[in-house]
Formats: sequence, C-alpha cells, structure tokens
Amino acid sequence: MKLMFGPPLVHLLLYCATHTLGVRIESDPVASSEGVIQTELDKIVSLTCLPEGSLETQEELVWLRNGAAVSLKEGNTNGRSKVCITPVIYEDNGATFTCHLKENSTVSSSVTLNVTYYPQLSGSEEVTVEEEAVLLLKCDIWANPQVTLVDWTLNGSKVDLLEGAFMVTKDGFTSQLSTSSVDRSLHDGTYQCTADSPMYGQHVKIFHVTVVDKTLKFPMMPMIAGLVVVGLTALLAVASRWNKITKCCK
Ligand SMILES: *[C@@H]1O[C@H](CO)[C@@H](O)[C@H](O)[C@H]1NC(C)=O
Ligand SMILES: *[C@@H]1O[C@H](CO)[C@@H](O)[C@H](O)[C@H]1NC(C)=O
Ligand SMILES: *[C@@H]1O[C@H](CO)[C@@H](O)[C@H](O)[C@H]1NC(C)=O
Repeated sequence: MKLMFGPPLVHLLLYCATHTLGVRIESDPVASSEGVIQTELDKIVSLTCLPEGSLETQEELVWLRNGAAVSLKEGNTNGRSKVCITPVIYEDNGATFTCHLKENSTVSSSVTLNVTYYPQLSGSEEVTVEEEAVLLLKCDIWANPQVTLVDWTLNGSKVDLLEGAFMVTKDGFTSQLSTSSVDRSLHDGTYQCTADSPMYGQHVKIFHVTVVDKTLKFPMMPMIAGLVVVGLTALLAVASRWNKITKCCK
C-alpha cells in the first residue's frame, strides 16, 4: 500500500520545493477563520507574511493596505515580511491588509481589522442660553459596534418632547437634542445623554443648561461705522495739532 502512494507524494514534494503554493499571514492577535482580527484603539497588531509550500524561502513579498503599497524596510521583504500597526487608529477599522508575492500578485492572503471603540461621551459641560434663543445639545455616539440606544433626560426624567418642544435627531455619529425657542421654565436644568454600547456598556455626558435673560441686540453695523468716524476725526485733530505738540516737547 505504501509503495502505491509513494511516487505521487515524491512528485508533490518536488513540486513544492520549486513552487510557492501560497502565502500565509500569521498575526498577533490571531485572526478568525474568516480573516478578521479583533482589536481596539491604541492597541498593537502585528502581521507576518510567510510563503507556504516552498523550500525556497527568499521569495520577495509585498504588503498592501486597502490596495495601496505599504513601504517596507530593506530586508523585510524576502522570505518573511512583518508589518506592525501601532497604534491602531479609527481609520484602521475595516482596513484590509494583503500580502502577495512580488512576482505573482495572485498568490496572496488578506486579513481585515475590526477595531472596536466606545462612544466619546464623558464629563459635563456648562451651557448658557438666552431666552427665546435656540438650544442645541450634541452627543458623540460614534462607536463600533454601534450603540443600541440613546437616551436624553432632563432633571433625571426622560425629556418630554411635546412639552419642551424638543427635537431629537440622530445619525451614526451624533445625537442632537434641540429646541427653537428657549423658555426658562421649561428648559433650564441638567440634561444627560446616555448611549448604550453592546460591548462597552453605558456612556454618559451631562449638560448644565442655564437660561439667562434675553439681551437687547444693538444694530452692529451703524455702531461700528459711527466708531470709525469718531476715531478718524480724533486722529485728524491730533495730526493738525502735531506741529504744536512736537514743538512743545522739544
Ligand atoms: C501565479 O500563481 C497562480 C496560482 O498559483 C498560477 O496559476 C499562475 O500561473 C501564476 N502566474 C505566473 C505569471 O506565474
Ligand atoms: C466587530 O466586532 C464587534 C464586536 O465583537 C462585532 O459586534 C461586529 O459585528 C464586528 N464587525 C465586523 C465587521 O466583523
Ligand atoms: C430642573 O431643576 C432645576 C434645579 O432644581 C430647576 O431650577 C429647574 O427649573 C428644573 N427644570 C425643569 C424643566 O423642571
């Protein structure tokens, strides 16, 4: 039996010795079977590309990030090539790293990063707004995985959209609470926005909103023009007296 399988095996070995059958990416952290590497902001990911099935280990390798060549130091391209993503940034989320043989780009292997991060919500902010003005509060809810719920409260209870004439709008990046005409009795107080991340839990931001009296708005343009005229006149007055003034000073 053994003899029967012998010759093909030898052929295979010979074939392998002269041809690179593929390239393989080893990573830290390890990729899933679908080639996805789970990581977080500010972490480090290292990728090593190795030719497979070849005894000839000096094949030249090329790395691409989202299809664009990654510049590699000399000596980091032959036989084995390593790239380090340090630190991991937002833009690395979904980025695909591909390694291929320089002489044959169809011999390649890829991994994709899944960078998880929580919404940038924390601390508190003092907001002063005049009566009858627009109040706009913004919460940054951008996160991976996406937040599942965003909640706004005023003085500890859920904001009453109708009573406060509030509008809540939301896209993938921010949740905004706004009202077009501020009324102290309805809008003064402590607001809180809470975002629920399925991975990182609740994140909260607080706004202390103080409603102040409406200030009278002077028409600005005529006032500035008036000031300029006064200024010029004063300057001319000084200029016309300059001779006398300089004489006095001597
Ligand atoms: C590149 O590699 C593929 C897969 O191993 C092979 O089919 C193809 O012939 C190679 N092309 C060249 C130009 O060597
Ligand atoms: C990224 O990881 C998160 C958390 O494990 C998961 O919920 C999400 O589906 C992953 N996204 C992709 C594109 O794999
Ligand atoms: C929220 O609480 C503050 C402080 O107790 C109070 O001055 C304000 O009127 C309250 N706001 C509303 C809308 O009830």
